[in-house]
Amino acid sequence: VQPRPLAGRHVIVTSGPTHEPIDPVRYIANRSSGAQGTAIAAALRDLGARVSFVTGPAQVPAPEGVDVIRVETARQMRDAVESALPADAAVMAAAVADWRVTNAAERKMKKDGSGRPPALEMAENPDILAWVSKLNKRRPKLVVGFAAETNDVTAHATDKRLRKGCDWIVANDVSPATGIMGGAENAVTLITAEGPEEWPRMGKPAVARILASRIAKELT
Ligand code: C5P
Repeated sequence: VQPRPLAGRHVIVTSGPTHEPIDPVRYIANRSSGAQGTAIAAALRDLGARVSFVTGPAQVPAPEGVDVIRVETARQMRDAVESALPADAAVMAAAVADWRVTNAAERKMKKDGSGRPPALEMAENPDILAWVSKLNKRRPKLVVGFAAETNDVTAHATDKRLRKGCDWIVANDVSPATGIMGGAENAVTLITAEGPEEWPRMGKPAVARILASRIAKELT
């Protein structure tokens, strides 16, 4: 039998991409598969946590034994996270779209024969990680963010931890050559108040298990 150090604890995990509609059939998205967030939710569940799994349209199935809340857009994700509070910890692994289209069409857009493409107007989406980190009474004790970088990973992620106000940042190098985005493995640097910790490259489930046990240690 596994020890269940997170029994009685509630953790919110965001995962996957968001989709931002352009019209009823088109959207802006990104290449997040949801694999790392899904593995983290499963690992937290395995340690006994009650997990609220807020997921965008991911490529991998949601884990069993967690509360799955399916969303499409960043704003829906923010609302779902708010509804899931209070929580002991929040792990924001979703690749949230930075911008949404503010002039999305109600009907499918058509070429009008002029040869001129439509102009999309965009606005910044809410930053869910920064918002959760800055909550007062409702702030989870531990807030973990992710940083997908293509260069100067540790420096950018250290800066991001301070800017967003979260406790930890799990940073990874998503340059195409690493094969990490959409792949089976991850090579992460965990940034805490104590500084950076480089973890060896390993499968995403292994990253998830180590992270979950670190979270358990932090909450007990
Ligand atoms: O700097 P960047 O926005 O890429 O930081 C990524 C981290 O912030 C991830 O943990 C991601 O889930 C979170 N995030 C968020 N809401 C956004 C953008 C990013 O929660 N709108």
